[in-house]
Amino acid sequence: MQEESSHTPIMRLSRLRQHDSLRRLVRETILTTNDLVMPLFVKAGIDTKREIAAMPGQYQLPLNALKEEAKQIYKLGIPAIILFGIPDNKDQHGSDSYNSDGIIQRAINEIKSAVPDLMIISDICLCEYTDHGHCGVMDEDQNVDNDKTLTLLQKQVISHARAGSDVMAPSGMMDGMVAAIRDALDMSGFSRIPILSYAAKYASSFYGPFRDAAEGAPRFGDRRSYQMDIANGREAFREVALDIEEGADMIMVKPALSYLDVIARIRDAYPEIPLAAYSVSGEYTMTKVAAQQGLIDEKAIVMEQLTSIKRAGADFILTYFAKDVAQWLGQ
Ligand code: PBG
Repeated sequence: MQEESSHTPIMRLSRLRQHDSLRRLVRETILTTNDLVMPLFVKAGIDTKREIAAMPGQYQLPLNALKEEAKQIYKLGIPAIILFGIPDNKDQHGSDSYNSDGIIQRAINEIKSAVPDLMIISDICLCEYTDHGHCGVMDEDQNVDNDKTLTLLQKQVISHARAGSDVMAPSGMMDGMVAAIRDALDMSGFSRIPILSYAAKYASSFYGPFRDAAEGAPRFGDRRSYQMDIANGREAFREVALDIEEGADMIMVKPALSYLDVIARIRDAYPEIPLAAYSVSGEYTMTKVAAQQGLIDEKAIVMEQLTSIKRAGADFILTYFAKDVAQWLGQ
């Protein structure tokens, strides 16, 4: 005879965790190679690739190495790259950024002629091209002149579009930049080129190693007068709302790991807009250096980081680990 149980049965959530196949069946978030964008640095005037001291395992590439690199990335199944240029000459207005023979314009040509189906995302900003290292042109009081900068960003997008870039990603956090760029593209016959706006970009110390990689640290001051305050979450909604209204096709949160709350809240508020997250240089370097010291399991940690970014709500992730992840997923 069976006795009737007098206690409430324990709700055993662990039942579904007993076997790998069962865990696979109920897994909510799957990271794939389709979710990855690989950032690349291209430097003018060098013949061989140079390792970036602050980002072990990442390189400043010469123009002549780009075809091979792009082929390899595309073969791994990664759909897109984002390009950063380090020009020979920097000046007050960042003029190399819109020169049809500039480093990035030549890089885009080079890659497109070899691997036309690999999407090229252009980082649209002046900071790598100005001698003072700020993201826009300065006025007499050494403040960024937002509206003058917009005119230069318009020139920059048109030159990138002419060179063959597929997606424009304005990253300078200038007010009105998305509208200005949309307008310039539409007026020049590039109405089909989408915009990925760095909508919620924080004034973060996690960009430190990138400034070494792209040789673009501000010579004076900092970027807190145009990038977002790290303490603000609600403000991100205003940035995103405005950028969508101005015509952004996709939006980005940057950095990623310390801003998962921002990613999740934006995902909830805008379920329909494609959302990217940039796992930035500082996130890469902290992980890479610890892994090189044998202190953490690199593959496990990177997969956990990227899965978490996706679980928070990102559709795709810009990460310096893109090639490694594509290799791990393909094994
Ligand atoms: C601006 C830009 C930066 C990064 C991407 N685009 C630097 C900055 O705003 O200071 C940082 C990316 C990274 O840290 O990996 N052109």
